[in-house]
Amino acid sequence: MRDWTVLGIETSCDETAAAVVRGSAPGPGQILSNVIFSQLDAHRPYGGVVPEIAARAHVERIDGIVDEALREAGVALADLDAVAATAGPGLIGGVMVGLTAAKALALAAAKPLVAVNHLEAHALTARLSEGARFPFLLLLISGGHCQLLSVDGVGRYRRYGTTIDDAVGEAFDKTAKLLGLPYPGGPSVEQAARRGNPKRYALPRPMVGRPGADFSFSGLKTAVRQIEEPDTADVAASFQAAVIDVFRDRVAAAMAMFRQDHPSTDFADFGPDGRNGLGPDGRNGLGPEGPRGPDFVVAGGVASNAAIRDALDALCSDRGFQIKKPPPRLCTDNAAMVAWAGVERGQLGLFDGLGVSPRARWPLDAS
Ligand code: KG4
Ligand code: ZN
Repeated sequence: MRDWTVLGIETSCDETAAAVVRGSAPGPGQILSNVIFSQLDAHRPYGGVVPEIAARAHVERIDGIVDEALREAGVALADLDAVAATAGPGLIGGVMVGLTAAKALALAAAKPLVAVNHLEAHALTARLSEGARFPFLLLLISGGHCQLLSVDGVGRYRRYGTTIDDAVGEAFDKTAKLLGLPYPGGPSVEQAARRGNPKRYALPRPMVGRPGADFSFSGLKTAVRQIEEPDTADVAASFQAAVIDVFRDRVAAAMAMFRQDHPSTDFADFGPDGRNGLGPDGRNGLGPEGPRGPDFVVAGGVASNAAIRDALDALCSDRGFQIKKPPPRLCTDNAAMVAWAGVERGQLGLFDGLGVSPRARWPLDAS
């Protein structure tokens, strides 16, 4: 398949973003531009994202950000193969702004439109950055989600586990608030944890050892709230250590499920060049590095946390999975991931009509 050039637009939360990506499935692809305007300053006084403020800020910025992304990439609308935008899930006012802008551009330039699921954009990012191969095991950890899924192809998701209460990013954000750390909470907690003692407070490890691969974080949040005279760095470190222990246990459980569903991925079906089977010596599978386990992908804003990344590295090398981690700036919300999802869906002919509606809720495994 020839390379596609796609403009992506992301407005589902508090970043107004546009990017141009060029490439072909399974990746990696090339990021020609990746413009992000963060509305952090507008929301900081409220300690969280205010939907009305976000929607207005998207409206004010979107045209300029799209122009900048095209200019930086040196690409004209006429050069595009498709226009992609996040169509959900997210704050509906913001999603509407980005999707409407994409529709207008697609109509004006007579280009096909791709309505992207924000979660699928996170899920496929490791193909843009690392060329991750289907099927892979995905740990999706963001402000609104905490899921373990088998990603068997574009639009083909099988869920192994999800949170029964809070998302993990939410737990980071609430812990930061309890500690009086600045918004946004995740990066503040990570930074504070570097100076802290992770063994100072004995916090619960919810769901550890339970059957299945579901998560729960509300008990952890409650335990943090009950600490008397908390030492900020030690609480942050103890909280992060608890989250990491939970991930180790839950991801290991999902790895076992994935192996059962995909026994053949334990052999080197695909060499690093993506070609099937036989090595240069004509023998099946095993390259000079020996057997290659399946890919494990971590995605979403919380995946930019260095301590979590390190723990997952160790777990993967222990369990024979190949870890594929997008760089931190592609883990948090951005439009390059949306453009890439546009490349992948577009190359499969999965376009959307101009009548497509934004969706506040849009689960990955039921799309
Ligand atoms: O994917 P994302 O940018 O937006 C959503 O789609 O939700 O994720 C945002 C979440 C927030 O909860 C934020 O606090 C968390 O990711 N986050 C982090 C870090 N950076 C962002 N959590 C822990 N450590 C970080 N370094
Ligand atoms: Zn996100």
